[in-house]
Formats: sequence, C-alpha cells, structure tokens
Amino acid sequence: MKIILLGAPGAGKGTQAEVISRVKNIPTISTGNIIREALKSGTELGLKAKEYMEAGKLVPDELVIGIIRERLAQQDCQNGFILDGFPRTIPQAEALERMGVEIDKVIEIYVDDEVITRRMSGRRVCPGCGASYHLEYKAPKKEGVCDNCGDTLVQRQDDQPETVRERLKVYHEQTAPLKSYYAAKGKLFVVEGQEEVADTTRLTLEALEA
Ligand code: AP5
Repeated sequence: MKIILLGAPGAGKGTQAEVISRVKNIPTISTGNIIREALKSGTELGLKAKEYMEAGKLVPDELVIGIIRERLAQQDCQNGFILDGFPRTIPQAEALERMGVEIDKVIEIYVDDEVITRRMSGRRVCPGCGASYHLEYKAPKKEGVCDNCGDTLVQRQDDQPETVRERLKVYHEQTAPLKSYYAAKGKLFVVEGQEEVADTTRLTLEALEA
C-alpha cells in the first residue's frame, strides 16, 4: 500500500505514521527526518536546507524530489510505503507521478491551527533516535529522557512559536492546495485529529480500510 499523510505541521502525521508502519509492515519516509539527519551530519543537503528549515520555509522542490527519488528506489519500498511530509507542493506531487508512483490513499489529518500551536509547544524529540514525545499527551516514562535510547530530549528549533506561525502560513499557502489535487483524483480521505493519539489512530486505520 502506498500512502501519503497530509496535514499541517504538528497535526500528528509522524505519530500516526509510526503506528501504520508497524501495522502494515511498510516503511515511513519522512522528508523532515531525512533533512534533519542531513543537517546533523553536516552533509551538502543539510547545508543547503538549513536556512529554509530553521525559518519555517519549505526547502526547494528539486532538493526534496531528489531525496524521494533515491529513497523510493530502495528495496524496502517495493511492497509499499508511507510518505510523511511529501509531497508538500503541487510540483512535488507532479514529480511523484512522473516517477511512475501510483498512490493508493491520501489521508489528511485535520487539526485546527490553534490546537496545533498548543501541541507544538509541548513536543519534545530525541536527538539520538528521533523518537517524538509530548509533555502532556505522550510523555516519556522518565521526564526529559528518551524511552528508547536514554538520550536527553530537546525541543525542535522550528517548534518556537514564531517559526510555528510561519510554518502554518506556508502550509496554508503551498501545501493545502494538494487537498483538492488529490480529492479530484478520488484519493483523499479526511481524518479529524482527536485529543487522544489512540482515537486518531483508530480513525486513520478505518480510513485506510475504507
Ligand atoms: P517536518 O518534519 O515534515 O515537519 P511538519 O510537517 O511541519 O510536521 P511535524 O513533524 O512538525 O509534525 P507532525 O504532523 O509529524 O506531528 P507529530 O506527529 O510530530 O518538516 C520540517 C521542515 O522540513 C519543513 O518546515 C521544511 O522546511 C522541511 N521539509 C520537509 N519536507 C519537505 C518537503 N516535502 N518540501 C519542502 N520542505 C520540506 O505531532 C506533533 C506533536 O503533537 C507531538 O508532540 C505528538 O506527540 C503530539 N500529538 C500527535 N497527535 C496527537 C493527538 N492526537 N493528540 C494530542 N497530541 C498529539
């Protein structure tokens, strides 16, 4: 199954992708995680993406399209995958089609901007293994420490309130048009993001079976 998870920053795409990946036994491809990893290891991609990402802007299409082309060619994508954070613009969606990728379903996780802003301030991530937590909704067992690898949790630089506002603006201007793009192809399913992660998971899995 080839799935796209669409939704505003902080809507819960990464959180749901983790569960779907386990249930369907397919990999998650998160362009955000790939870029953050490149930033951390100081590769050319990381250097090129740095200023865009830190300002809450989109990284240029040609860079992310290149990342996706390489990643989808890998063996573990043969039986399907979840795209988390890609495509984010119409040109990215068109590039995916030109690669010959036939998407089965696009799930939009819809959450109000106000709720998103609140959620982002509570998100903490592990710099070691990339696991994501929330102070209120998905707290680690020991405060400030990653359950998986024991590293100290940090706040993402682009989760600062001003950057979150910019990311939401960019989402509405450049990514939201993808909703009608995929609705016109009969592939869009909207899931209302719920207060509890497990409730959103149930609705997401139902949408995938529909
Ligand atoms: P990226 O990393 O993709 O960020 P994003 O899309 O802005 O999404 P987030 O990771 O912030 O949020 P999410 O929806 O995954 O939410 P999460 O599950 O963590 O991209 C970052 C940057 O990279 C971009 O700004 C851009 O610069 C660049 N980039 C990436 N892809 C690109 C592309 N294709 N083109 C160009 N540039 C690109 O949840 C958020 C928090 O809420 C967590 O703490 C979680 O625990 C909590 N939570 C989740 N669900 C619930 C719930 N139901 N109830 C309560 N809390 C919940």
